[in-house]
Amino acid sequence: MLANIPATQTVIEISKPGTPEVLVPATRPVPEPKAGEVLIRIAAGGVNRADCLQRMGRYPMPPGAPDIPGLECSGTVVKCGEGVTQWKDGDQVCALMIGDGYGEYAAVPAVQCLPVPPGVSLIDAGGLPETFCTVWTNVFERMHLQPGETVLVQGGSSGIGVTAIQLAKAWGCKVLVTAGSDAKCAACREFGADVAINYRTQDFVTVGKEFTGGRGVDAILDMVGGDYIPREIELLAHEGRLCFVALMRGNKVEADFGAIQRKHLTVTGSTLRSRSVAQKAAIITALREKVWPMWAQGKLRPFTFRQFPLRKAAAAHALMESSEHIGKILLVP
Ligand SMILES: NC(=O)c1ccc[n+]([C@@H]2O[C@H](COP(=O)([O-])OP(=O)(O)OC[C@H]3O[C@@H](n4cnc5c(N)ncnc54)[C@H](OP(=O)(O)O)[C@@H]3O)[C@@H](O)[C@H]2O)c1
Repeated sequence: MLANIPATQTVIEISKPGTPEVLVPATRPVPEPKAGEVLIRIAAGGVNRADCLQRMGRYPMPPGAPDIPGLECSGTVVKCGEGVTQWKDGDQVCALMIGDGYGEYAAVPAVQCLPVPPGVSLIDAGGLPETFCTVWTNVFERMHLQPGETVLVQGGSSGIGVTAIQLAKAWGCKVLVTAGSDAKCAACREFGADVAINYRTQDFVTVGKEFTGGRGVDAILDMVGGDYIPREIELLAHEGRLCFVALMRGNKVEADFGAIQRKHLTVTGSTLRSRSVAQKAAIITALREKVWPMWAQGKLRPFTFRQFPLRKAAAAHALMESSEHIGKILLVP
């Protein structure tokens, strides 16, 4: 155990469901790591869209999830629970969490930690686990994206989007994205997207068909849903795959399911937070083996847009809800 672990810490509580101002600092005990857990002194915590929904009282919380928001962090291991052999005090890690990232200390299952990648600062690493786990499990485990295939990423400038662009390019795929402004489109191209479609002025089906010579795209990672769904079914190529990580524009829609049958499409989706520790560990292991070596090869780079002091969590949420950001927003204790 590293010295100087205090008894209490500052966390950010959701005082009541509502606008960003309901996020307030509070004092809570520093947790004791249970068997299989490590206690992390947090260097940075990532802000995710799900945190905003949780703050509004609109997120279906999985059983056992704590009330403190925060799905990921980076930091230093300061104490190991019983049975932890893969980490030791002083190790710098980033971790996928079920909650509790908006604090100074958190106890996390050791199997949900990854080493801070080479060339990435301890702070920037705090914004990696949630998007990399989500993109890995949805794009590669569910849609089985293959080198040479074409993928459309809706919301290309989001944390999920810039992760998907980089991973798909590193995999040897062609990447189209949508984003809501020319500046965001330029940023997506800078992250490696072959084509960036400003969805306010261009139609993604038309651009996608043009880019693929009329064939359509092999896979679509979607967080928009709603009226995008029938158009996505139209854009997919034979044997195409459509995967939802969110449905921001609605989850009920009229669509041509005949096209799913005719084109042999696969429609799928998933949530990460509700998965068991064992399932999260399997994703972390796959990332460590298949993706983490890419950092040293220069194929990936972090994507922090702005960092806020932990106590300014309300301002961080307001920025996320303004959608002015490109990439990740971080909270630094
Ligand atoms: N299922 C899971 O396990 C899982 C895990 C993590 C995240 N998610 C979800 O993934 C999404 C992204 O998460 P995040 O934390 O990266 O949030 P974020 O950075 O706030 O991303 C939301 C993005 O949606 C884009 N968007 C909104 N309307 C759009 C439209 N009509 N067409 C295209 N893009 C549109 C926004 O960009 P513009 O300004 O360009 O519109 C923004 O970049 C969230 O909905 C989150 O809940 C799901």
